[in-house]
Amino acid sequence: MQTYALNSGDRLPVLGLGTWKAAPGAVYGAVKDALTAGYRHIDCAPIYQNEPEIGQAVAEAIAAGVVSRADLWLTSKLWNDAHAPEQVQPALEKTLADLRVDSLDLYLIHWPVHFKPGVMFPRRSDEYVALDDLPISATWKALEACVAKGLTRNIGVCNFSLKKLQALCNAATIQPAMNQIELHPYLQQEAMLAFCRERGILVTAYSPLGSGDRPTGMKKSDEPTLLDHPVILRIAAKHGITPAQVLLAWGLGRKTVVIPKSVNPERLRQNLAAADLVLDAQDMADIGALDRGYRFVDGAFFTGSGSPYTLSAIWDE
Ligand code: A2P
Repeated sequence: MQTYALNSGDRLPVLGLGTWKAAPGAVYGAVKDALTAGYRHIDCAPIYQNEPEIGQAVAEAIAAGVVSRADLWLTSKLWNDAHAPEQVQPALEKTLADLRVDSLDLYLIHWPVHFKPGVMFPRRSDEYVALDDLPISATWKALEACVAKGLTRNIGVCNFSLKKLQALCNAATIQPAMNQIELHPYLQQEAMLAFCRERGILVTAYSPLGSGDRPTGMKKSDEPTLLDHPVILRIAAKHGITPAQVLLAWGLGRKTVVIPKSVNPERLRQNLAAADLVLDAQDMADIGALDRGYRFVDGAFFTGSGSPYTLSAIWDE
């Protein structure tokens, strides 16, 4: 599979397996199937509550000779409750133990939102820590120390607005290698892509298929779907490919990494095959016209009553 170079010189496969919403019980088989099919990049996070199972599948695949650790790209993320500098290394070490590896390829700050230690999703106002009380640059310094210790080869962020990413670049000793953000035809984020291109920061598109299996509590009643948009269906029919493959080929055509989640063997293979598909300029332009600035994952779950966070502060919009 094609790879993109990070600012360290390391190269990561352009298409990876997303594991958000892949339930324990389902993700073990999905990772095994994916590695056998040829996936060489897995996107993980402790908040997905399935890293031990992914670690078991990876360890077994390595032991069986399906893949070597050196040929497998593993990304994970620091949850919001471990942003205090002294919490960062222990959180990373827990992920390493769960994934059963000595180091990660990429470690990301999952959200620019802080919680008290041990809080997964806050329910009370005193479970949050305000951004003003803990500069992101302090968390970042602790990630830089993890690179120096060999616990991760690269570091980056997720869900950072352009303003927060620029501020981090100005404060960082090791420049962020990646911003992983929601990206699909309804949320194209051109200004972010332009900035990242200019700075040599790669962008990963999460929810590239529109994240239709989000928990009902996270869904809005009137939200649009992507996989059945008439333009996507027309382009799929034109090329004899599936709507999901159109969306993935579009993301790859924009030089972003894509990490579709699936736990279904047929769809896993279908998504992997999209890495070899190229849309023509007219297709890219027709899909480019679908932008509506729509977030499926807007972070509203961090802005409940008593939270110091608001949507406009998270996204700087
Ligand atoms: P499943 O895991 O049963 O395959 P996203 O990556 O945007 O979060 O989207 C994930 C959702 O899209 C899941 O519901 C997943 O279901 C579904 N999905 C994954 N691949 C495909 C595909 N090729 N065609 C249709 N739906 C897909």
